[in-house]
Amino acid sequence: MLVDINEEGLLATERAIADSGGQAKIMTIDLSTREACQAVVDAAISQWSRLDVLCNIAGVVRMSEVSKVTEKDWQSLVSTNMAAPFWLSQAAIPHLLETSGNIVNCLSQSAHKGAAYVVPYSMTKAAVLMMTKSMAMEFINEPIRINAVSPGSMETGMSSLQLPEGMDLSLLARYSGLRGPADPADVASVVLFLASEEARVVHGAIFCADDGTTAD
Ligand SMILES: NC(=O)c1ccc[n+]([C@@H]2O[C@H](COP(=O)([O-])OP(=O)(O)OC[C@H]3O[C@@H](n4cnc5c(N)ncnc54)[C@H](O)[C@@H]3O)[C@@H](O)[C@H]2O)c1
Repeated sequence: MLVDINEEGLLATERAIADSGGQAKIMTIDLSTREACQAVVDAAISQWSRLDVLCNIAGVVRMSEVSKVTEKDWQSLVSTNMAAPFWLSQAAIPHLLETSGNIVNCLSQSAHKGAAYVVPYSMTKAAVLMMTKSMAMEFINEPIRINAVSPGSMETGMSSLQLPEGMDLSLLARYSGLRGPADPADVASVVLFLASEEARVVHGAIFCADDGTTAD
């Protein structure tokens, strides 16, 4: 089940999955409310009567100096990047417990190292890092796994960002990584591994898939 606010992107991904012999259902929805997150899980259950994996991947980023962050941007970052993974997890966990399923959250290099011009974004990603570990502990005695992948720079829609005027590029370079942006498919394969039975002893873990960006 593919969930996004961008219908065009969903249709393209649905086609790609069909072309490779898979099946997908799409749901176009803004995930920024608890009600929407519950509706997504309800729709998945009414379609397949079970849930095996929840991947919390949707996210937004805004580049801005601290003094120029607007309340609208703040709300959007907090509700999409931080609240939606929590509300989706809350709605999904009862179903995942029935299937011994798992959750894979998506962080960022900026959850681990200070990142100029993306302060609220990095705050939301650090919050999801701690959500991953804390939920893992709350469910340590239950049949569920909860993990996160932490990508570095990738060539995606998110890379075509509006840069703040007059920004100090050397500060951006500190968290952009020395190996250049990754192919998102190479990060997706780490998500796939964590979601699979191969990772059955991985719980409460943060897998950095950032080509060494957070190694220094
Ligand atoms: N691109 C990078 O360099 C990079 C680096 C580190 C982490 N990440 C993380 O990777 C994940 C995927 O991002 P991406 O790089 O593929 O960017 P992307 O912009 O291509 O994908 C993000 C998707 O989230 C969707 N989305 C945004 N707000 C939404 C909402 N309210 N409801 C539903 N869908 C919404 C967008 O429509 C988009 O399809 C994000 O969590 C991002 O923070 C990206």
